Amino acid sequence: MRRILVAGNWKLNGNKASIQQLVNSIVTGANELTKVSIAVCAPYVYLPLTAELLGSSAVALGAQDVSEQDSGAFTGEVSAPMLLEIGCKYVIVGHSERRALFGEKDGDTARKFAAARKQGLIPILCLGESLAEREAGQTETVVARQLDAVLELEGVQALSDAVIAYEPVWAIGTGKTATPEQAQAVHAFIRERIAAQDEAVAKKIQILYGGSVKGSNAAELFAMQDIDGGLIGGASLDAQDFLKICQAGQNQ
Ligand code: PGA
Repeated sequence: MRRILVAGNWKLNGNKASIQQLVNSIVTGANELTKVSIAVCAPYVYLPLTAELLGSSAVALGAQDVSEQDSGAFTGEVSAPMLLEIGCKYVIVGHSERRALFGEKDGDTARKFAAARKQGLIPILCLGESLAEREAGQTETVVARQLDAVLELEGVQALSDAVIAYEPVWAIGTGKTATPEQAQAVHAFIRERIAAQDEAVAKKIQILYGGSVKGSNAAELFAMQDIDGGLIGGASLDAQDFLKICQAGQNQ
């Protein structure tokens, strides 16, 4: 059995006061949720504050992006060794907003994935098609291409210390959730593609769903065979809703 992971992605939101409130509520609520793994991915500058607020709780810390470089003359970048030192366990790579708004290509994502793993961080690799791609029947082609970029650079074994998040772009922040069946179909496709190279890795890897997950729809998504949790944007900024999603994971 794969453990459910619920990871919050705060994106470009929050300030010291709101993060303090949010994290304190999550830590308190998460105390009883021993059967689900929980993480929060904070903006870079608030990682140290979030780490301090999380303290020794079981809620893990993650970042939202990472440089493919470890150090050097790369103004504005933040490296995997830095994230590790500050207490991160996870880092999101290849989020669709990085791909669409900041020109990140499959190869860039694959190198970020590699840089994170080299330090022992767990990359949360985001895959997902746009609405136009779905309507053109290209969902599997796009997801396969994004996944293959990592498989080709790092090999299938690298996925045994990684998490995948399937996030259809048309469902992110739109309130339009993929149906459990739509999501399950793509999750199964991803797992089969990995299984074609290594069955054990495919069985072990957590594949999260992301895209308008809320307290009200998490349970039906997490009930699907190949959905092992969620990457939560908007709802992760509301402690009560986020905890409801975690509770849905706990109940699986
Ligand atoms: P959303 O975002 O939950 O607000 O749709 C998910 C994500 O982008 O990770």
